[in-house]
Amino acid sequence: MPTVVSGIRSTGNLHLGNYFGAVKNFIEMQHHHDAYFFIADLHSLTTHPTPEHLYGNVRQVLAEYLACGIDPEKATVFIQSDVPEIAELYLLMNMNAYLGELERTTSFKDKARQQPDNVNAGLLTYPVLMAADIIIHKAHLVPVGKDQEQNLEMARTFARRFNRIYNVELFPIPRPYIFEGQDMVKIPGLDGTGKMGKSEGNAVSLADSPQEIRKKVMKAVTDSGPTVPNQQKPEVIQNLFTLLEVVSTPDVVSHFDLQYNNCTIRYGDLKKQLAEDITNFTTPIRERIEMLLADDKYLSSVAKLGADKARASASRTLQEVRAVIGLKKFY
Ligand code: TYM
Repeated sequence: MPTVVSGIRSTGNLHLGNYFGAVKNFIEMQHHHDAYFFIADLHSLTTHPTPEHLYGNVRQVLAEYLACGIDPEKATVFIQSDVPEIAELYLLMNMNAYLGELERTTSFKDKARQQPDNVNAGLLTYPVLMAADIIIHKAHLVPVGKDQEQNLEMARTFARRFNRIYNVELFPIPRPYIFEGQDMVKIPGLDGTGKMGKSEGNAVSLADSPQEIRKKVMKAVTDSGPTVPNQQKPEVIQNLFTLLEVVSTPDVVSHFDLQYNNCTIRYGDLKKQLAEDITNFTTPIRERIEMLLADDKYLSSVAKLGADKARASASRTLQEVRAVIGLKKFY
């Protein structure tokens, strides 16, 4: 059975981008794969959260994973820092990761621009930790959104390089999981620029109340409207349609598409419908999140079960890696 590994950083609540770019595939894949889904709390340390925020966010994302339908009896659901073998593999992989290639990574350059006062070594070696996450379970497939494409390419490079240096076939080369031949998913934000993201302030969270959703959607950036029939949609408008496509029925999408094409569209109506359809989609998830957050005992039993299963798999790989490298025991 192919092995699947993927994770989400614990830097805040899950948003629609996380759901449609990643979690939706997790739910589907857990039935047919040996699946490992984790919360990347070590990765989130690059932004220096307070201890309270770190703990609260990990707990929140754990509840959100489960509320979305990830089944801890089927998939291995765990917290990255519960598996110290990952940190050791990260150290070992760092020896064959080079400054030039790490500095060229788009996500590193972006972060260095966003937080110029905190360009730490963890940011630079972020793709190495991500590679360790993936290859420690010998993953074949990694369900991620488009924004992680380059990081995943680096994981492939590091896995291939390790196999080549030591002349082994220890690590399968992990591939992105792409649903039915489509491109990797990119969910846009509400500000008309680029992707929906936690730090961009343009996201709708799964845990947002209907009021918050409505407020955010009604404020979404638009233009002054189409003036010529059948004109191509500018990015800000296409973004709203992309969101509509993931949460609304095809009828609703074609209704507004038609109105756009004959220049009668009123963006206010489209936004109202979008807010309503997002709310309908997120409400049952939000209610489950609230229930799960009130159940400490269940959350800790899930984390314990996941940690045990993930450590068993990770320590098997790490033992092999140590032997291949020549780190053998003298006792
Ligand atoms: P993170 O936490 O930023 O995002 C988690 C997942 O959500 C996807 N995603 C999106 N997909 C489509 N459109 C969007 N607007 C959007 N925003 C986020 C991401 O592509 C990702 O799949 N480095 C990773 C976490 C990670 C990881 C790993 C992933 C750590 N180790 C190993 C896979 C395997 C990250 O920061 O994702």
